[in-house]
Amino acid sequence: MTTRSAPSAVEADLMLAEDVEGWMSREELALLHELAARVPRVQCVVEIGNYRGRSTVALALGARHGSGADVYSVDPHAEFTGPRGGHFGREDMAHLYANLARSGVGAHVRVVTLPSVSVARAWTGPRVGLLFVDGDHRYEAVRADYEAWRPSLAPGAVIAFDDCDFAEVVRFVEERVDAGELVPQGGAGKVRWFGIRQTA
Ligand SMILES: C[S@@+](CC[C@H](N)C(=O)[O-])C[C@H]1O[C@@H](n2cnc3c(N)ncnc32)[C@H](O)[C@@H]1O
Repeated sequence: MTTRSAPSAVEADLMLAEDVEGWMSREELALLHELAARVPRVQCVVEIGNYRGRSTVALALGARHGSGADVYSVDPHAEFTGPRGGHFGREDMAHLYANLARSGVGAHVRVVTLPSVSVARAWTGPRVGLLFVDGDHRYEAVRADYEAWRPSLAPGAVIAFDDCDFAEVVRFVEERVDAGELVPQGGAGKVRWFGIRQTA
């Protein structure tokens, strides 16, 4: 007779994230979960681009598994066709809230329904220990997100980019790596994560 052991706490969290529609693989969700778990409680996690909350649930459960840092999830939910052909809009908001509540993180995620750069410019929240960039993947948009959030990053913060198989994201990331600003730390699937070298 074979016995099936109960899933670990992390596996159970990942199963909840995988129940939400979206494109991120289990290994990518596991990486986000792990990175969020490392963020100290006095700092926070900021996510740019949530769609219906697949990555958001992984980040929130990871943060809760770690020190309980708040997760701010930013997405304007305006009508938008991404450069990879994905269609996004207001209907995603209803799914997002339902998915967060169903996954038990409705009270843990601070949803901000505005464009990332506007939020960054007005930011008065905690220092950001983990920035996850998965919004508009066009080169200029990725650059604008990065530049806008950089002043709010905590010392020792890390930044993770999704879609590092997409030319415009790769171009931006490689430029910053070559400039010595982003320091590669690792990755999973199409997510890569970096330390940030502070420049004077
Ligand atoms: C690929 S989806 C995000 C997927 C999500 N992270 C997940 O795991 O399911 C891209 C999202 O970026 C959002 N977006 C587009 N422009 C944005 C902006 N300026 N700031 C924040 N989010 C933006 C879109 O509305 C869309 O929901």
